[in-house]
Amino acid sequence: MRLDFTLNNHPCRAEAPAHWTVLDLLRDGLALTATKYGCGEGVCGTCTVLLDGEPVRACLVLASRLRGRTLLTAEGLEDNGQPDRLQSAFARAGAAQCGFCTPGMLLSARALLAANPSPTEHDVREALAGNLCRCTGYTKIIEAVLAAAGAR
Ligand code: FES
Ligand code: FES
Repeated sequence: MRLDFTLNNHPCRAEAPAHWTVLDLLRDGLALTATKYGCGEGVCGTCTVLLDGEPVRACLVLASRLRGRTLLTAEGLEDNGQPDRLQSAFARAGAAQCGFCTPGMLLSARALLAANPSPTEHDVREALAGNLCRCTGYTKIIEAVLAAAGAR
């Protein structure tokens, strides 16, 4: 099937088998591998992307749902070739260890800051509750999101 949609602020035309998920299309069809395959069943959040600005699990959404819509992945976060404020804050805070969860964390955090520019720590914890991290204990991640919010 043919798919026309907006990917990371650019028009995208792609071909995909009908059974492919958004995660299949990104990684296998478009060679965009920032979006990670963790559990494959909607539990870990590492495949989180923004569809029309809302966080979704790329492993659970069929690629056919992309037609005419807007998709943002971690590859699209940079701002004129520079890390965006969340990426910069994660780097400054040391909020990534293995980095496997980081793309999903960044996108969930971006959606949070778009809806709530001045979140509390509780807001950040709630927004990231569906994103699992095996490494960091979450403290640095939460600090980074709060720092990025303060940098507005
Ligand atoms: S890979 Fe999609 S939620 Fe785990
Ligand atoms: S930094 Fe390793 S899973 Fe989060």
